[in-house]
Amino acid sequence: MITRIKTFLIVGARPNFMKIAPIFKEMKKYPEDFNPIVVHTGQHYDKKMSEIFFDELELPKPDIYLGVGSNSHAGQTADIMVKFEAELLKHKPDLIILVGDVNSTLACSLTASKIRYDSQNLDKIWHKYNEYISSRKTESHYSSSRTRKDTDKRPLIAHVEAGLRSFDFDMPEEINRNITDNLSDLLFTSCRDGDDNLISEGYDPRKIFFVGNVMIDALCVYKKKAESSKILEILSNQENGKKNRVKIDHFVLVTLHRPSNVDDPQMLQMIISALIDISQTLSVIFPVHPRTKKLMTNLDSGLQEKLRRSDVVITDPIGYFDFLHLQSQAKLVITDSGGIQEETSYLGVPCLTLRPNTERPITISEGTNKLIKLARPIIVSEAKKVLNKNEFQPANIRFWDGQASERIVNTFKKIFTV
Ligand code: UD1
Repeated sequence: MITRIKTFLIVGARPNFMKIAPIFKEMKKYPEDFNPIVVHTGQHYDKKMSEIFFDELELPKPDIYLGVGSNSHAGQTADIMVKFEAELLKHKPDLIILVGDVNSTLACSLTASKIRYDSQNLDKIWHKYNEYISSRKTESHYSSSRTRKDTDKRPLIAHVEAGLRSFDFDMPEEINRNITDNLSDLLFTSCRDGDDNLISEGYDPRKIFFVGNVMIDALCVYKKKAESSKILEILSNQENGKKNRVKIDHFVLVTLHRPSNVDDPQMLQMIISALIDISQTLSVIFPVHPRTKKLMTNLDSGLQEKLRRSDVVITDPIGYFDFLHLQSQAKLVITDSGGIQEETSYLGVPCLTLRPNTERPITISEGTNKLIKLARPIIVSEAKKVLNKNEFQPANIRFWDGQASERIVNTFKKIFTV
């Protein structure tokens, strides 16, 4: 039996916080078995992109803060790697838990997979791991070429949200996911198509564990708190210089930050014009990501003026509870985020995704999500179609039930501490 498994839980960008919090809390229930340590790379650093989530999700201040900030992809990844390597050598953790697909996920998986250090626990960890994985019976064939021998001098790497694929390598996240999966020893999937993707890519099925969706764990815990959010009253009482006040029971919520949508000025102009069109029917609430905010200053001045006079209500990034409240009350959500496709499906709120593909197809087949073409008349007409329908139900997706983090921690307990 191994005790006090020193575990690094890595966070970096906004969507990581609500995925790591439930796992951290679950581990904390077993202080004799786990010693969870939160490492924040600092990829996101603004109060409203980072600190607010620690407060709301009741996460302690990160034990280790790398403070890397913004940079080019290479610069940011490299900064995280160098700083993370030093922390690995200093603390010698046994286990690294990574979530999602951001640059911090990639950088930490690369670093952890190449590090080597001595520690007594590591030998035991690898022994137990190899024993457990070999004992697992799966139906598929396992390609032995993927095994590595010299693994007992580095921490074990676990990837949560493994196997998601958009098959679109123009997205930095698709590169990050593929590489992180490749370097991970335990692959925790949130839906069955994640398992299918990994198996069809030749991954050893004995390393794959279908556990469910940790982001939905957080939603289940905090849904009640979010109900008492006053964000709609606050927004509706603000004049905002708009013709109409935000109508509390009738609005569209928008988020937008994918480079493919916001970095290209023509694309951004087109999407903003569509939002102005939609706001003629009902209020649009648009909390703006810092990346998008910067790029919106380049919009042509005529459009900026139209936007100012429209019923599109622009706000700063919004905290977790307020945002959950807005999602649950919206008539429609328009987004290019990954996590929001899942949350709206769970909540039964229609979602139009401004992307040609998604790594979360289950939100289309079993949820409320629809991908739409990036063209102004299509965005407007699809929004109208949704608003005229009233037939959306909360999705009932397997293991999106608030217990994914419990399944993850139980898996660790089964492997290492039983
Ligand atoms: C990152 C993730 C993306 C995720 C998103 C969630 C990668 C490659 N992308 O995108 O998958 O969906 O986070 O928000 O990891 N900025 C600030 N303050 C902050 C953070 C960022 O002003 O606290 C600005 C900076 O100008 C920065 C830009 O936003 O250059 C982009 O930040 P970055 O972390 O590189 O990517 P995101 O677009 O946030």
